[in-house]
Amino acid sequence: MTSSLGTTASSRILASSSPGVRLSLHPPTSFSLLSFSSSFKPFAFSPSSHFSSHQRRSAVNVSSSRGFGTVASPKCAASNPDQLKSAREDLKQLLNSQFCHPILVRLGWHDAGTYNKNIEEWPQRGGANGSLRFEVELKHAANAGLVNALSLIQPIKDKYSDVTFADLFQLASATAIEEAGGPKIPMKYGRVDVSGPNECPEEGRLPDAGPPSPADHLREVFYRMGLNDKEIVALSGAHTLGRSRPERSGWGKPETKYTKDGPGTPGGQSWTVQWLKFDNSYFKDIKAKRDEDLLVLPTDAVLFEDPSFKVYAEKYAEDKETFFKDYAEAHAKLSNLGAKFDPPEGIVLDDTPVQAAPEKFVAAKYSTGKRELSDSMKQKIRAEYESFGGGPDKPLPTNYFLNIIIIIGVLAILTSLLGNN
Ligand code: HEM
Repeated sequence: MTSSLGTTASSRILASSSPGVRLSLHPPTSFSLLSFSSSFKPFAFSPSSHFSSHQRRSAVNVSSSRGFGTVASPKCAASNPDQLKSAREDLKQLLNSQFCHPILVRLGWHDAGTYNKNIEEWPQRGGANGSLRFEVELKHAANAGLVNALSLIQPIKDKYSDVTFADLFQLASATAIEEAGGPKIPMKYGRVDVSGPNECPEEGRLPDAGPPSPADHLREVFYRMGLNDKEIVALSGAHTLGRSRPERSGWGKPETKYTKDGPGTPGGQSWTVQWLKFDNSYFKDIKAKRDEDLLVLPTDAVLFEDPSFKVYAEKYAEDKETFFKDYAEAHAKLSNLGAKFDPPEGIVLDDTPVQAAPEKFVAAKYSTGKRELSDSMKQKIRAEYESFGGGPDKPLPTNYFLNIIIIIGVLAILTSLLGNN
């Protein structure tokens, strides 16, 4: 049973008893769900078993209506900008201590990537709405292993209750790209969370890695999200980060010379040699296909086979700057898919300098009035004034002025008389 506020009922999410993971059971009203020892090791998932293989072992409470949630507090926007900024600093620390950049990128992508542009209603249309926190969606085959990503960011969610899950997933992903050396992503925040597991999308909206016709499949899935060929290729470049693990997705080798020593939990097969560094090596490596230790999924290989995809893939292999530019735009677009923003225009964190408002235009005016006297003219007047006995502290007696005016008047009359002759 689920209460509408999600504070009274909880369901059970079942996790492995993997060493290094300390599981704690909480009363149903508590929202702190998993606590990890410092030697945290993500636990493995098999696509076919998901949670079922772990159900026999140990259990952790998850609120079925708010997922890995916190108590709601009254607020006027979906997320609080100050809390978003502080959460970003905490995420940087987490990334630099756990080397979890890849899985946080995948978390954001899998929350947003369920979007269906043909469905108008929110949240039925799917997308970046925080639904991936619920057990029912975490159990989708494509999401195997992502429970570890949730567990990693849960302490940050607990600390910042005025940041929605939908925002936190996207904040974590964009921060991970940037911290790994990737481009600055022009993000906005304020995503509203879905409130219950009944609002999760159905399984099957995310792409398969080995479909019969990879190009058609990628187009079918990404066009449904409203993305185009260029964006498909640019976003695939996120595989410059991370590894595939056979025990999760079924793809990749259990370990390679590039993954056997970590960092993070060792193992899996990466697409690139430096799989914690965001650059364009993914395109170079899948084009070369020269290293048996590097992964090329059928959906990666097709980027250099399909004539339309190939144009972009070749460009990105050669030109890192173009890849970064296109990736940043596509990532921001992906992160907004299906999202409902509160406020509707979203919240931009103020780390990009706001351009100063242009000054109000005022047309020039022609002046016929007083003009400033030049210094030499002022000096002349002062000399004249002093020759009549005046000075800064000594005004001239009024009759001096009177005499001067009479003399000037007489001179003017004489001049005009003489002029007329
Ligand atoms: C084009 C279709 C895509 C397919 C078929 C695909 C498939 C996969 C597969 C099979 C894995 C291995 C998962 C595991 O075993 O743990 C994976 C990992 C990953 N994917 Fe994708 N993916 C696609 C697109 C994307 C996109 C658009 C992004 C991000 C923008 C992305 C980011 C990642 C990352 C960062 C990882 C590494 C995760 C880790 O190391 O834990 N993928 N992907």
